[in-house]
Amino acid sequence: MTIHTGAIPETSAARIAEIVRQQPKGHSLDQALYDSAEAFQHDMERIFLRHWILAGHESSAPNPGDWFLHELAEESVIIARGKDGKLRAFVNVCRHRGSRICKGASGHSSVLVCPYHAWSYELDGTLRAARHMPEDFDRSSHGLKPVHLEVIEGLVFVSLAEKPLSLDTARSAISEAFSAYGWGSAKVAHRETYVVAANWKLAVENYLECYHCSPAHPEYSKLHALEQPLEKIADLNAAMEARTLALGVRVPSVDRRVASTAGEASVFVFRYALYDRVKTGGPNGEPVAPLMGKFSDYDGGVTSAHFAPSSFFIAYPDHGVLYRFLPLAPKSSALELVWLVKGDAQEGTGYDLDKLTWLWKVTTEADKRITEDAQKGVSSRFYEPGPYSPVEPNAIAWIAWYLAEIA
Ligand code: FES
Ligand SMILES: [Fe+2]
Repeated sequence: MTIHTGAIPETSAARIAEIVRQQPKGHSLDQALYDSAEAFQHDMERIFLRHWILAGHESSAPNPGDWFLHELAEESVIIARGKDGKLRAFVNVCRHRGSRICKGASGHSSVLVCPYHAWSYELDGTLRAARHMPEDFDRSSHGLKPVHLEVIEGLVFVSLAEKPLSLDTARSAISEAFSAYGWGSAKVAHRETYVVAANWKLAVENYLECYHCSPAHPEYSKLHALEQPLEKIADLNAAMEARTLALGVRVPSVDRRVASTAGEASVFVFRYALYDRVKTGGPNGEPVAPLMGKFSDYDGGVTSAHFAPSSFFIAYPDHGVLYRFLPLAPKSSALELVWLVKGDAQEGTGYDLDKLTWLWKVTTEADKRITEDAQKGVSSRFYEPGPYSPVEPNAIAWIAWYLAEIA
């Protein structure tokens, strides 16, 4: 695929390199990285056009002809299930004169028809018909541009890179962890998109630290032990791991947080405990949906994965939550949440949507508010990078990763 990268002007690249050089260690980023158009463009080129990004769960397109879109800033990708049952991804740009072809979040059709002049494409991307084109027009060289796509335990990843990073380590880490929860045969129970008036990095950093959990998230903090310093929750975590093993389930932790210069995707899978008698992330810690995968009971634990740059997965024994942070503009980002339940669970009898989504909706609404407040302060002429606390280790590690990526 030919990608026009809209090369970063040398002055911008040099200025960003200088900002990275001056960045104080263990501190939040320079203001320009959080709100300038040039840093935003740089992030698009260096991060979002190079890395694998979670596009959703394959149960969003269960049948041939089903499609859904993956959109970030000015790019849009169609993910469609072919007549052969295979999921494929294409750039959502018509090969006639460039119009968007599919619009809306998702849909179903046996051919993809461009709304502009009605060129039509098969679900495998080949051009099927183009009205009033000359006899010698070569249809075969005007198919939709393919995008790299991988499905791991039902999670759909796409990469806009010409040569994508290796997913070998990430594939085995994600499949070992989330096959235990049966995510390969799970279904999407609900999706919710929040537009956050903040740079995508402020939203990601906020996700990555739980220093803010006790002031901002009383609902979450009552259930999850994560906001404590790690040594304080070592016993709770050990008891949780023993309960998981007693259920005959093994969920390995993996820490492979690497820069893309290593040629592979960065992944971090870890586990943490819920407080005593809390079963899951639902009202009062009570079950919200049928148990999934290998779980025959609740283990009082959570499995969490960070997939750089901006995709995150959370698994409880009875449901899962996927988080995607996507840049829209320098000071605007989209935060999409997807709730997963067992494939055959029925709304109403098997789960109640309000109870299922309550915790992460209330938590995300608070996160949206505090992240937008952070952007306002970060954009002030009085802002200067401030020091992270030692209880924000994942945010510190991610900032170091990000700086290495854009340097
Ligand atoms: S731009 Fe799609 S048919 Fe003309
Ligand atoms: Fe939060």
